[in-house]
Amino acid sequence: MSKQLQFKLVLLGESAVGKSSLVLRFVKDQFDDYRESTIGAAFLTQTVSLEDGTTVKFEIWDTAGQERYKSLAPMYYRSAACAICVYDITQSASLEKAKSWIRELQRQADPSIVIALCGNKADLSARRQVSQEEAQKFAEEEGLMWCETSAKTGEGVNEIFDRIAHKLPQV
Ligand code: GTP
Ligand code: MG
Repeated sequence: MSKQLQFKLVLLGESAVGKSSLVLRFVKDQFDDYRESTIGAAFLTQTVSLEDGTTVKFEIWDTAGQERYKSLAPMYYRSAACAICVYDITQSASLEKAKSWIRELQRQADPSIVIALCGNKADLSARRQVSQEEAQKFAEEEGLMWCETSAKTGEGVNEIFDRIAHKLPQV
């Protein structure tokens, strides 16, 4: 009988970096050019299969990035096994915001939480403000996973959830 694991995952990051779009791509393989800003938070699930037959069900909390919802975030990350902190590669301020979420998680979340830093909108590299080197260096120093994704093209999206699934405890 193969193993079935379940993990809570939270997405954090500034409004409009593409958190909901990443989840929509991962869960439904779809993309909308015009997405409504999230109110409060949204809950979705998706299951991935590992090579050894283990299935990993992600229970995903897609939080709202607008400042007025900031105080709700601890409710979602407190019991999370993993977090994806998202920034937009065309907005350097959004990397600063992602870093501040990472610092908050390091102080307040479960010490064993798996954290990924994710630069979204990789399809807009002509407007890039955040270099791969800068973000990757920060992630390495903090011991985080790092990736770039495009919810629009799908680039890197399944890969990051897959890498997280492999990093979670397989007990
Ligand atoms: P909040 O819910 O307000 O926190 O925002 P969010 O982070 O969930 O952003 P959302 O997914 O709503 O995306 C914001 C806008 O960016 C939408 O118009 C998306 O179509 C667009 N977008 C998201 N991901 C990408 C991407 O990878 N590439 C491009 N070009 N646009 C994207
Ligand atoms: Mg959203």
